[in-house]
Order: sequence, then C-alpha cells, then structure tokens
Amino acid sequence: MSVTDEIKARIDIVSYVQRYVPDLKKSGRNYKACCPFHNENTPSFIVNPERGTWHCFGACAEGGDIFNFAQKINGWDFKEALRELAQQAGVQLRAQTPQQKDADAKLERLRGLLATAADYYHRRLQKPDAQPIRDYLFAERGLQDDTVSAFQLGYAPPVWDFMLNALRGLGYNEAEIVEAGLAVQSDAGRVYDRFRNRLMIPIQDSRGRVVGFGGRALDPADNVKYINSPQTPLFDKSRLLFGLDAARRAIRDSGSAIIVEGYFDVIQAHQAGKENVVAQMGTSMTEAQLRLLAPRLVQRIVLALDSDAAGINATRRSLETARAALERDYAGKLAVDIHILQVPAGKDPDDFLRESPGEWDSLLASARSVADFVIELETAHLTPSSSLQEKQAVAQPLLPILQASEKDLLRKDNMQKLARRLRIRESDLLAWATTIAPPSPPLPPAPSELPPDYFADEFAAPPPELDQPATGIRARSDPLRAAEGYCLSLLLRNPHLLAQVNRKLRELAGDDERLQSGPLRDLGADDFSSSRYRALMSHLQESLRQDDLEPLDFLARQIDAELHAELDGLLREEPAWLAQSLRGNFQVDLNDILKSRRFGPGYDLLNELISRALQLRQARLTNERVDMQYLQEEAQTDREPAQLLDDRLAIEVKLSVLAKARIDLAIGG
Ligand code: UTP
Ligand code: MN
Repeated sequence: MSVTDEIKARIDIVSYVQRYVPDLKKSGRNYKACCPFHNENTPSFIVNPERGTWHCFGACAEGGDIFNFAQKINGWDFKEALRELAQQAGVQLRAQTPQQKDADAKLERLRGLLATAADYYHRRLQKPDAQPIRDYLFAERGLQDDTVSAFQLGYAPPVWDFMLNALRGLGYNEAEIVEAGLAVQSDAGRVYDRFRNRLMIPIQDSRGRVVGFGGRALDPADNVKYINSPQTPLFDKSRLLFGLDAARRAIRDSGSAIIVEGYFDVIQAHQAGKENVVAQMGTSMTEAQLRLLAPRLVQRIVLALDSDAAGINATRRSLETARAALERDYAGKLAVDIHILQVPAGKDPDDFLRESPGEWDSLLASARSVADFVIELETAHLTPSSSLQEKQAVAQPLLPILQASEKDLLRKDNMQKLARRLRIRESDLLAWATTIAPPSPPLPPAPSELPPDYFADEFAAPPPELDQPATGIRARSDPLRAAEGYCLSLLLRNPHLLAQVNRKLRELAGDDERLQSGPLRDLGADDFSSSRYRALMSHLQESLRQDDLEPLDFLARQIDAELHAELDGLLREEPAWLAQSLRGNFQVDLNDILKSRRFGPGYDLLNELISRALQLRQARLTNERVDMQYLQEEAQTDREPAQLLDDRLAIEVKLSVLAKARIDLAIGG
C-alpha cells in the first residue's frame, strides 16, 4: 500500500473534516454541511466516506480527497499536507535520500563558487591596470559603463592562478574549481586557471544564476577567439540561451524573441534598448533552447543568423530542429511562427546596431517567413534550363514543409511562389504534392445531436468499465488507475500534450459556456482518483504556468521523495505500448517525420491519450452525478427551503449528462 493510501486508510475523512466543519451531519450514506470554503445557507458540501471524497456542489464546484481538503482549508501545498497527515496517521515518510541531499548541496556550492568568480572578474576589470581593457570595451566595442555592469563583464588577467588563488582563499578546493570549469588540470597534475588574458562574459541560466563563462581573447595574436566553460554539472551550452534572464520580460511583452549568434550581439542589442534578444552561442539552435522559449514565452521567433555559408547551414539545421521538435508536439502545425533575418553586407547584429541603431526595427520587419527563406534557398541553384527532374528533386522535400501551414491562404501563397520559382504550372506542383503528402484524414464530426433517449435511465446504468489500454499496460488491479497512469505518464513525458487534450474538451463543449466551465472544463487533478496522481497532475499544471524551467525539471524540484518515487515509476515504466508508439517520434529524422505527419504514430498516440483522458472525465462525471442525485433526493425529502439548490442541481445534472453524451460520441463509447 502506498503511503497516501495508508494515510487515507488510517484517517477517517469524516472526522477529519468535522474538525473544521463541526456541522457536518450524517445524511443517508453521506455527510453534508454548508461548504466551509464559501458562504451559503443551503448545504451543498458533501463528504462521501465510502470513497473518501468531498465535493462542493455550490459556488466552489470543487472536490477531492482528504489531501485536497487539508491543503485547501489550511492553505498548504501537497508536500505540507502529506507531512502533516502522515504525522497524524503515524505513517513514516520516505526521507530525501542522502545521495539526493548531497547532490543538492554540491550544486548549491558550485553556484556560489561561480557567482563569486563572476564578481572577482568584474571587480578585477575596475582595477587601474585594466584601463586598456575598459578602453577596448568603450571605444572599440561601443559599450557604456552601465552595460558593462549590467552584464557583469569582467577581466581575467594574464596569469596562471588569479582565480585559483581567489577561490582557494575563500575555502574552495582545487577539485571544485576544476569541476566548475574555472581551472584545468594538466596530465602532469598541475592545476591552472582556464581563462587567462580574456574578457569575461558570465553566462546565466534562465533564472539568472551564473553557470559558466565565455572568455574573449584580448590579445590579437591569440588564435582562439572565445574559450567557453566546459560542460559541467551546471553548464550545458546546448540548453542555455545567453541573455535569457535579462530578455525574459521584453520577450514575453512582445511575444517574440530574436535569436542571434554571439554574446556581443546580445549585449549591443540590450544597450540599444532592444531587449528581446538572446544568443545561442555559436552553434545551431537546439531543441532544448527552443523549448526555453516556445510555446510558453513566445509566438514568434526570429533567427538572426550570419549570412555566410556556415551561418546558412546553421540556420538550416536550426529550422530542422525546430520543425522536428514542433512536430513532436503533435500540434500538426508550427505553433511558433519562425522568421529568418539576414543582416545585410556580411555584418553581425552587433555591427549593425552600432552603425545604424535606428534601422533595427525596419530590418526586423524585413525578416522572411520560413517558407520564403526555404524556397529561395533551395531554388537558388536552378537555371531556366534546369530539367523537370531537377525541379522535382527540389520540390520533393519542400512540399511537406510548405503544406504544413495551418492557413489555406498561406499555403496557397507558398505553392504559387514555389511554382513561379520552378517555372512550372501551379497545377503540376499540386499534382506532385498530392502524391507526396496526402491530406490529413477528417476529424470525427463534432457531436451536435444527442441520441433520443439519453436522459432516460442515466442512473440505472452502471458506471462505465474502463478497459485496459489497447496494447496492454502492465496489469494493475484497478483499470481506472491504469488509465490514469497511462494519461499521466504520457503527459509527464510531453507536458504540452495537455493543451491538445484541453482543446478536445473545448471542442466538445462548443459554444456552451456552462459546459466549458463545468463538466467539460480543462483536464485537472480532479480527473484522477489516486492522491499521488492528483498531486502530480496539479504540480504538472503549475509547472506549465511558469517558464523558468522545463516543466519536468520544475516539477521534479517541487515534489518530495514520496512523489519522486511515483514520478520515477511513471517515467521508468516504458511498456511496449508506449515504446512502440513513441519510437517513430523520437528518432529525429526530418524526412521520416515529414512523411509520417498526421499519419504516423504520433497521431495515434495523441488520439489514444485523448480518449483515455475522456474516459477519466467520464468516470469523474459519473461519480459526481451519483452525489448530485443523492443531494437532490435529500433536498426533496428534507423539506428544507432547498428549492434553489434543487433547481441548480437539476441544471448541473443535465449539463453533466449532456457532457457525458458528447464524450461517449467522441470516444465511440
Ligand atoms: P563570432 O565568431 O561571430 O564572434 O561567433 P562574435 O560574437 O562576432 O565576436 P566578436 O564580435 O568578434 O567579438 C559568434 C559566437 O559563437 C561563439 C560565441 O558565443 C560567439 O559570440 N563562439 C565563436 C565560440 O563559442 N567560440 C569561438 O571560438 C567562436
Ligand atoms: Mn561580432
């Protein structure tokens, strides 16, 4: 038995609630009272001791188990509720393992070390003998004092032990200094500063904590322009965007982010008041970098990359990464709008901004859509005498990309452009397109009509039996639990799928606001019956509301050892059904993904998730209806002044039944 189950078994929910709601009175099989969470005169708060649940059918329209109740009435989070209730129940909680504690403490110490180092380098830049470096920054790089401070730029003097001495003096040992990437150990065992005679640029994570450095050569004879921190427990260049912490507000406010290549491009842009600029630090954009921005922070990304051959190749790779990643979001279309900006005349944004800051905005406006960029790029080598085969070879990989657009007009426009560039008729191009990328299958029609006798014997029907997921999740005793586990483990692996599930619920609700905010509202913790699943689900939702960290990273930091164990289980469990469905999608092969769009495993997986999620909702609605029916009966026999409640319940029941019917139609149940 899990710890949460054990607590529930040991603490009687009725007596627990009664401590806070002394009026809670037995009434039939249930207990009821006026809701403690809002003001009311007619009781609409119910505790069901059999199921161990509570529900307010009044203004709150909320419910849950003993953990939710304890959280809500005390203002606790799940962790606190678990700790308190475990103590009351005399249940021993798993402590954070010593390894977990050690690892946390070690990272914290490394962070402290790096912050200190940034401060030392920065202060070293203020010393009189660093005047030439400051001159270089002001005169040659066009920076102002404020900018130098804001980015905490620093100076590593041309000696072997500046940082080593500084940090040793503060009690850090050599091994730590090496691990933080600030010193290097030679084969002979000698330890020396990694950064010497360099301009130091601290690199922060998305929460503004220094995790590494870029060091620019100051000696023109130095043939390595930049030395960066090596991969460390805190520094992974492919998962960071330089300047993100400083840029976040501007990015969110403008809904768009501009990705440049270099440190100085960012620094210069911020100095010019263009603050929605971040850098990918040299290589092409990675999926992790994209996910730092989309879809939580931005709707639009502008790639402002160098226009030399290397830059164009990097742009190509970035676009492929973006496409592959966005495909795996099952959005079926590009959820962020990507534009490509080419800075004219072989300049980088740093040069451009220094020379003509006033023209930045119009330069931005000239950014081209991916389609335009790709069409031009891929057709550049064609000549009027190119053969039809050559043209087809160009069109083949382009068509799926151009057809991916959600908007008909845009799609048509792109096809026309490509046809023009290829000098063929548009109808010929369209003919090629249909042989390459068949149209997506129609979605099942939105249910509009109810079967005639739907209201007839709703309560006579037994609660729906949930069968096992099609290809056999490891058998658990409770099929509902299994369906919950299935949904949760998929959502944890790809949190952004939640939006797709919710989109389906909204689609089913149609224009009916009472359905939208009632029985067909977004999927939530209440759709899960296991306490730990509920807790994980609400943490997951919370993690999607922040944008400092990847949702899963955020979530993992919020939860205690107990939920960690559950989370690990859900993520480790890679049953055949999941592995099979996911395999196609995790091999990042652009062509495969393009070929399989809308038909591939991703499509089935999403549909499978949606129907499982709808089954969970169905079970929840059934439970709620049972409670409502009970309340209705009560209201009728009590002869309380309960007419109002009765009326409201009647409406609620109708809505619930309507929702059930729509869900049944959608999942063919
Ligand atoms: P660039 O070579 O375009 O340098 O590299 P830059 O940013 O314009 O530098 P300045 O203006 O000459 O001082 C772009 C980015 O690629 C990464 C750095 O992040 C750099 O800002 N890079 C470049 C490296 O990491 N290592 C290198 O050796 C070169
Ligand atoms: Mn430059």
